[in-house]
Amino acid sequence: MAIAPPLFVALLLVVAHPAGSAPAPLTSSPFDAALATLQSRVGYTFRAPGLLRRAMTHASYSRDNGRALAVLGLAASESAAALRALAADSDATASAVSRRASEAASEVACAAAGTHLGIPGVVRVAGTASASAAPVVCGALRALIGAVAVDANSTDAAGEVFWRLQVITAATAAM
Ligand SMILES: *[C@@H]1O[C@H](CO)[C@@H](O)[C@H](O)[C@H]1NC(C)=O
Repeated sequence: MAIAPPLFVALLLVVAHPAGSAPAPLTSSPFDAALATLQSRVGYTFRAPGLLRRAMTHASYSRDNGRALAVLGLAASESAAALRALAADSDATASAVSRRASEAASEVACAAAGTHLGIPGVVRVAGTASASAAPVVCGALRALIGAVAVDANSTDAAGEVFWRLQVITAATAAM
């Protein structure tokens, strides 16, 4: 006996997707879709996407947030800027290197890069926190850079992402 097509299709779906066994696709929620877009904009694909989720989560939203990653992201950004200053001029003074490091990794610079990257539309916040406030955007961007460092087990990889974002932001600002 032939099974009526709709029932047949329904049976197939049940067989193909037994409850709980199918892995969640990357674009299973708007947040996951936003994270996928973010990765392509940054030019880095996470081995452990949970790190990016955490980076894009503000402390107001969850205890599983990006604050610790942001500490690393800030250090990696400053390190990348200090290295570039000394690589360009090995006789640079301490104050010049310090200034370059703090400027490149400043809240103003990182909020601009984070806003350009679209972080206000991605980062999860709760309560009175604003997703477009400079400290939130900057914290999330630093957390993203720290997340790359952890994911790649390399502050060099984080430094590369840091410079790429600086260049993209500067290019747009100059247009
Ligand atoms: C991370 O990098 C360090 C230093 O290069 C290395 O010793 C360590 O084994 C790496 N860890 C993993 C998990 O790859």
